[in-house]
Amino acid sequence: MSAPRPAAVIVLAAGEGTRMRSRRPKVLHTIGGRSLVGHAIAAARGVQPDHLAVVVRHERALVAQHVTEVDAAAVIAEQDAVKGTGRAVECGLDALPAGLTGTVLVTYGDVPLLRSETLLGLMEVHTASGSAATVITASLDDPTGYGRVLRDADGAVVGIVEHKDATEQQRGITEVNSGLYAFDVTLLRDALAEVGTDNVQGEKYLTDVLGIARGRGLTVSAHLIADLWQTEGVNDKVQLARLGAELNRRTVEQAMRDGAIVIDPATTWIDADVTIGQDTIIHPHTQIHGASTIGADCTIGPDTTLTDVEVGDGASVVRTQALLAVVGAGASVGPFSYLRPGTELGAEGKIGGFVETKNARIAAGAKVPHLTYAGDVTIGEGANIGAGTIFANYDGVTKSPTVVGSHSFVGSNSVIVAPVTIGDGAYVAAGSAVTSDVGPGELAVTRAKQRNVAGWVARRRAGTATATAAEAALDGAARHTDGQEEGARS
Ligand code: UD1
Ligand code: CA
Repeated sequence: MSAPRPAAVIVLAAGEGTRMRSRRPKVLHTIGGRSLVGHAIAAARGVQPDHLAVVVRHERALVAQHVTEVDAAAVIAEQDAVKGTGRAVECGLDALPAGLTGTVLVTYGDVPLLRSETLLGLMEVHTASGSAATVITASLDDPTGYGRVLRDADGAVVGIVEHKDATEQQRGITEVNSGLYAFDVTLLRDALAEVGTDNVQGEKYLTDVLGIARGRGLTVSAHLIADLWQTEGVNDKVQLARLGAELNRRTVEQAMRDGAIVIDPATTWIDADVTIGQDTIIHPHTQIHGASTIGADCTIGPDTTLTDVEVGDGASVVRTQALLAVVGAGASVGPFSYLRPGTELGAEGKIGGFVETKNARIAAGAKVPHLTYAGDVTIGEGANIGAGTIFANYDGVTKSPTVVGSHSFVGSNSVIVAPVTIGDGAYVAAGSAVTSDVGPGELAVTRAKQRNVAGWVARRRAGTATATAAEAALDGAARHTDGQEEGARS
């Protein structure tokens, strides 16, 4: 049986997050390549709610803009000056259609490891038990600070008491409120209207809704989960790193279960949205970020950072830094390559050691193997760019493009001063500075013709080891020539 769909999920993200000590709103901090609220939205979307609302207040403009970027269909609800999780949910409900019926889930924007499967489990328990309210709970060794779950003699949930409001005896309870709930929306709306702010913190507590439901004779349930990571919130930067590391551990493990070979999971960082094909080997100290997609049978790393990069099947990317680049199937990149945005390497192509590329379309089978800067270039199929070639795309004012035709050959240590077009099947002689177009089949040579000045070392460097070496070599050659001449005479 598939779990019933909720009418809405309300994600609470109005808190200040002062303990983050950051100018950035807490829920915009990222782990695994997504913001905290981005993770909360992804988990919520996974249960396919009819509506999704995110409640904002602190830095509302920044948070609202980000939420809309992540999920254009999300409803932004603004919390007013009244504080507390209860008020936050009330504001969320106000932003949703008035006639809403069914189940509403409440989650937090700062709890990033929560999974959709857990929310589906919550929906199932809530529906199957016919509850008006169901809360996800966890059993903690140290429950300090959390709301405690109160149960009657039969074990039925009767309410939640906040740590600050709890008696010593209640503080001994280790089952805590995670802050994740399922509510019947009608009960939720009615009960919130009754909730006051008469508590230690002077806030409108969402937790009071459970006691009110129980007081009305409705069923209230708890869904105890064992995976504590899924309920842990981020309050400071230490927790941000802790949860980031655990998320990564889970993502890397999933990548392996999906068929990737990860040599060293401890030094491999893979963002939540990355996909990796079967039997691709990830070597140590590799980070794959953003929306990168890696094909099957690739070799990635060691010491490689890829951000929003697409790598085709069977490609190899070694000791490389790449951003917004495409590497074709069977192509090879590295070691020590720097691929900047707009780099597109065709199938079986090569970008080799100490090569930097930017806005460079390098066609199938073309090679840029050594020590090159290739900016704003289009390199044709099967072309070969010699060691040390510089595509000079910037004259200090404007950037200009260069085209190298298919199967052309640029000799080593050339500088190609853009804009220049080198035709198909053309050659550039090594050491040339090319400033005008080269036609198909032509050879461009721009360097001066070689001139050897005989006797220069003897005249200008007399007495040096160089002069002695030259003299010895010249004497030897002369004796050799004399000998040959004598032999010829006899
Ligand atoms: C809350 C629960 C507590 C639970 C704990 C779990 C209440 C009264 N208490 O406590 O039982 O054990 O979460 O972490 O609900 N928020 C708003 N608007 C507000 C206040 C909070 O949107 O006015 C949001 C925060 O951004 C955060 C979440 O609600 O995402 C929880 O707020 P927080 O202040 O951390 O709640 P706690 O006091 O820790
Ligand atoms: Ca908290």
